[in-house]
Amino acid sequence: MLLDKRNRPFRDLRISVTDKCNLRCRYCMPKEIFDDNFPFLPKNELLTFEEIYEITKAAVEIGDVKKLRLTGGEPLLRKDLPELIAMLSKLEGVEDIAMTTNGILLPKYAESLKKAGLHRVSVSLDSLDNTRFQEITGRTMRVQQVLDGIEAAERAGLKVKVNAVVKKGMNEEDVLPMARHFRHTGVTLRYIEYMDVGNANGWKLDHVLSKKEIIAMINDEFPIESAAPSYKGETADRFRYKDGAGEIGVISSVSDAFCDSCSRARLTADGQLITCLFAVTGTDLKKVVRSEKEQLPEVLAGLWSRRDDAYSEQRLKETKKHHGKKLEMHRVGG
Ligand code: GTP
Ligand code: 5AD
Ligand code: SF4
Ligand code: SF4
Repeated sequence: MLLDKRNRPFRDLRISVTDKCNLRCRYCMPKEIFDDNFPFLPKNELLTFEEIYEITKAAVEIGDVKKLRLTGGEPLLRKDLPELIAMLSKLEGVEDIAMTTNGILLPKYAESLKKAGLHRVSVSLDSLDNTRFQEITGRTMRVQQVLDGIEAAERAGLKVKVNAVVKKGMNEEDVLPMARHFRHTGVTLRYIEYMDVGNANGWKLDHVLSKKEIIAMINDEFPIESAAPSYKGETADRFRYKDGAGEIGVISSVSDAFCDSCSRARLTADGQLITCLFAVTGTDLKKVVRSEKEQLPEVLAGLWSRRDDAYSEQRLKETKKHHGKKLEMHRVGG
């Protein structure tokens, strides 16, 4: 089996299909920086669906990749996305195809995504309060549009998780209302510790509401107990409500890193292969797929076998790393 330097298999490929987004979340694409003049990738720099398919096929062949996830930016801004899903779902060995989205365009696309072979979605939503939602997302969309997106996904038969980034001074007051809202709905709500991805968001450790603090807040109102992970290397720690109202998750990349079981690689929309969310650089697979595509399996296997990333584990020990120039979230895809 192909293993990296820390004995981790290659199980999971996250594919970014665009670096653009229709929202401007403060912690991801602050609108002061990502304005009309921001140099988003030009169309000819984007991998075509055929090229994404070829790279994914090579990853499936050489690794143990069973899980694919489409990300962005906002993946639903990429034209004809269901076509890509239909292509990827034909790959032998792929068991799970998911997508991470802000949900705004789900009412329009949920049906066709499901038909094409998508299994599930993670919908990002950080507040149920409309004023705060608009402050966080930097646009005039409404919470109800995201809730409509979630409903459309469920109606289409997609499994739904909700991702809520929690940042001190931004939305601690939303932790409990969100738990109340999604209990008994079958939707798994996952709280995410605010991470130091990229350099644009001015991350500080003081802004992080830790897993311990989040759990204590919820447990005070709704007693919860730990649940076993649903797959090896799961990003979230799972907890179930003792009264049977469902489950929540907490993704604690800052206070309790999960690098030792990280089997994820990321492909940017312009074909950079990134072996850690906090990477400074990637490897240009666009060049390989455009000029010597038969080399893809060998190149990928070489990259994975040299992989030694464990940024979250090292973050607190090596604070110097914070000053390096990391890739931004809208490029790496989360
Ligand atoms: P599931 O397959 O449903 O477990 O989803 P997921 O958690 O792998 O993916 P999703 O896109 O929903 O991501 C949720 C949060 O986890 C986002 O904030 C991601 O940035 C973060 N995340 C996902 N993978 C990693 C990882 O490898 N390292 C770190 N530090 N964060 C990650
Ligand atoms: N810290 C934690 N999560 C983040 N996301 C975007 N930026 C950050 C950050 N700095 C989340 C999004 C989405 C997922 C892909 O990553 O809200 O749910
Ligand atoms: Fe867009 Fe998601 Fe980033 Fe918000 S977090 S700006 S929805 S890519
Ligand atoms: Fe994987 Fe890097 Fe995240 Fe650690 S910090 S879990 S190595 S992507």
